[in-house]
Amino acid sequence: MDYNNIFSKLYRELESIADSGKVANYIPELSKVDSNKFGVHLTTVDNQNFSFGDASEKFSIQSIAKVLALTLAYKLEDEKLWKRVGVEPSGTAFNSLFQLETDLGIPRNPLINAGALVVSDILISHLKNPKVEFLEFVRNISGISTINYCPRIVASEKATGYRNTALVNLMKSYGNIKNDIEEVMDFYFNLCSIEMTCQELSKTFLFLADYGISPFSKEKILSKSKSKRINAIMQLCGFYDEAGEFSFKVGLPGKSGVGGGIVAIYPNKYSIAVWSPKLNERGNSNMGIKFLELFTTETQTSIF
Ligand code: DON
Repeated sequence: MDYNNIFSKLYRELESIADSGKVANYIPELSKVDSNKFGVHLTTVDNQNFSFGDASEKFSIQSIAKVLALTLAYKLEDEKLWKRVGVEPSGTAFNSLFQLETDLGIPRNPLINAGALVVSDILISHLKNPKVEFLEFVRNISGISTINYCPRIVASEKATGYRNTALVNLMKSYGNIKNDIEEVMDFYFNLCSIEMTCQELSKTFLFLADYGISPFSKEKILSKSKSKRINAIMQLCGFYDEAGEFSFKVGLPGKSGVGGGIVAIYPNKYSIAVWSPKLNERGNSNMGIKFLELFTTETQTSIF
């Protein structure tokens, strides 16, 4: 498949549509990005690579990193994990508080902020040096030793993280946060601050297209069954209150972040990462979703 030609053709189609999205500004540091950036990178399971636009430029992957934290926590906790966090789509915004009280501090799923805070807490309980070991895990999956946290983004999120602080406190009151709140917040903000290019992101997520095997180290990151389940969670929860619409339009498991990135998986074939910083009202990349809708339609690569 000549993905390079398809990328430029679809980009030209997108250029004729006005982008009504807005760059995230509730984390001040994120608003500094050039809003016109656009990149895409696709890596196939047999390691063919296709790039377009700003695919080699780093951006803040934000909530996309929640999938990597979930991967490590699932590996360490096995099925016990689901006592602390559910697997149901929330139908609410990523930072919503209101279900958490009726659900007695158990987040609906690991991809909303509350769920990722619980996953962070679980990782802190398991790891001696959580930030260092988590980064090693991500570098190992991707085979890219330069992947790192961004201290500027961490500081910016810490200064404005009122909703996350509320979520973690509420869950602590129900006994679903075991460690010190400050430590959980620090780990979570570092997790969200990870920077990658589209190329790196697509490579990092390729193990989910390859039934849990890292195509670079050939290491089994997850069992086939666990890899299937992470894809299922992305399919149902990866876009919060827009998960149904993403499934409807794109038809692939995927995950978004407020930095404007999206990664999507076509099992046994490819992992694709798109970056376009302007977000729609649900906090997902506006053009990123439109591009993937055109892409899976053109290439007939939806899982359905
Ligand atoms: O905690 C936050 O609000 C951000 N660090 C992550 C939110 C996010 O990326 C939502 N995804 N679209």
